Amino acid sequence: MYRAIGALFLCIFSLPLHSFAQDKAMPNSLTPSSGWNQLSGEKLEALNLKGDPVAGGDAFKICQGCHRNGAMGTPSGAYPRLAGQHSSVLIEQITDIRSGVRKNPKMEPYSDEHVLTIQEIADIAAYLQAVPIQPNSLGIGPGNALAKGENLYLKDCAVCHGTKGLGDAKKFIPLIAGQYYKYVLRELAYMQEGKRGNANPDMVEVVKKYSKEDLESVADFVSRMPIGK
Ligand code: HEC
Ligand code: HEC
Repeated sequence: MYRAIGALFLCIFSLPLHSFAQDKAMPNSLTPSSGWNQLSGEKLEALNLKGDPVAGGDAFKICQGCHRNGAMGTPSGAYPRLAGQHSSVLIEQITDIRSGVRKNPKMEPYSDEHVLTIQEIADIAAYLQAVPIQPNSLGIGPGNALAKGENLYLKDCAVCHGTKGLGDAKKFIPLIAGQYYKYVLRELAYMQEGKRGNANPDMVEVVKKYSKEDLESVADFVSRMPIGK
């Protein structure tokens, strides 16, 4: 598994990336060869724009009804925390939701191209990345299998999301530390069921093998990871 991922990284870094090499901050796609996260169309356009966090704070107002003030989402997990997420990840997710690759019918009317310009996507991403994460002890799991969750996390997830759950902006790997238990659990279940349309295929390979208890314990562990940034 680790060797396979190593080989994957090698082949990614040998791909021609000059189309966006002018900008050093431009993230490299993790697995363009397998069709995951193709950098084209409005996604590439938004990634190439300079986001204005002040304008982004303004544009985010239409999102707050669900994602809440300060972008903290809801501890029930209905709406994920967006505060502090990497801007590359936010742009990826918003444009995948707009294109329908990731299904999100609730959010669609608030984020489609009639409502949000590509510049606003870049602005919102710049704003959210800088929003401080509020300390929050709600929205964590039941805490009955944390050792198991930690073992699974370190064995299967840390290789991409990092030992602290901070992810990697350049590779579009999200910050997941302290994300709400029920949201994390729902997304993992979607991955298993093939319902998270833009899920990274190498992650799906791992998650597919998990029992319900495995999913619960790893989601619980993730929900309690301190935000170390
Ligand atoms: C009507 C409610 C609603 C509104 C308004 C809304 N969203 Fe969402 N959003 C959701 C839901 C629900 C999810 C989680 C979907 C799921 O379970 O997969 C989500 C997920 C997301 C995600 C993915 C988060 C992740 O961690 O992968 C991003 C990014 C996002 N929303 C950004 C926005 C932005 C930006 C706006 C405003 C332009 C917005 N949302 C407006 C309901 C909403
Ligand atoms: C091969 C690298 C890789 C591995 C291994 C991996 N992930 Fe991921 N993960 C990603 C990437 C890339 C994304 C963003 C793309 C997507 O939506 O799938 C992601 C997204 C997620 C999300 C969605 C976050 C959000 O805000 O919606 C969760 C939750 C998650 N991973 C948890 C896990 C857990 C738990 C494990 C271990 C069981 C794991 N991942 C293993 C790369 C990985």
